Amino acid sequence: MTLNTRDTESKDIESSVTEFRHVITQDLLGKINALIDIEHREAGPDGPRGLHVSSALAGQIAEIVRSLPAFAALEANTKLIATKTLLVLNAKNKVNAHPLHIVRCVDPRVSRESHCRHYDSHILTLLVPLQLAEQSGPNGDLLVYLPSRPVPSVTRNIGAKLKHGIQRSLPFATRAFLTDRDVRTGRCVRVSCTPGSVYAFNGFISKHANLDIAAGQRRSLLIHWFDPGRSGGVSRAMRFARRISGNTSRILQRGKNAP
Ligand SMILES: [Fe+2]
Repeated sequence: MTLNTRDTESKDIESSVTEFRHVITQDLLGKINALIDIEHREAGPDGPRGLHVSSALAGQIAEIVRSLPAFAALEANTKLIATKTLLVLNAKNKVNAHPLHIVRCVDPRVSRESHCRHYDSHILTLLVPLQLAEQSGPNGDLLVYLPSRPVPSVTRNIGAKLKHGIQRSLPFATRAFLTDRDVRTGRCVRVSCTPGSVYAFNGFISKHANLDIAAGQRRSLLIHWFDPGRSGGVSRAMRFARRISGNTSRILQRGKNAP
């Protein structure tokens, strides 16, 4: 099942991802990026390096984009379509219906989140590019694998999460080699994002990853809807482990930089 929708401003990308064009104004993107700049500046050199913006600011940014009628309409529409997957899962009553808001700021220093193939725990992902990295080399583009998998059982879903967790721990060069091979052989499609557009896909059944970044910083807002709880707590444990690992690297880096 895919999340393809039809309206005059949308375009399907290889049947798994739908692009909604001209949704976010450049003016609004400028204001959002200014808010992120302020948080990064206040965090200083010892603050979180790359990756996540605070969840409070991510929620604030999500509310800013929701103030646009075009975004509110597409979010309502794609949520409606995603509920069909919930019906297949027979999980409409058990689902976690609260959205998860994440802002990712990725630059060449942060390679641990690149080339990591995975499925999301949530059914609907709305990707809002806020700022692109430099386009001359690898630029963090989204890679979506084809075809989508059938809706998995809990056991199969946990099996896939464990497999991808092991792949995530491979050296960067190996992960990059594997995804480059997948792009070359057509196992996945590369989604070139445009700030102003919004991209919707079902990350629960569509395996995906991101390229690394050669130069500049890529910023994206991710809004995840509907976690049917098919991960048996594995996703939460892996997110926790990644957070601990990120904090540890920062502490070690801080130690190295200390006089
Ligand atoms: Fe994802």
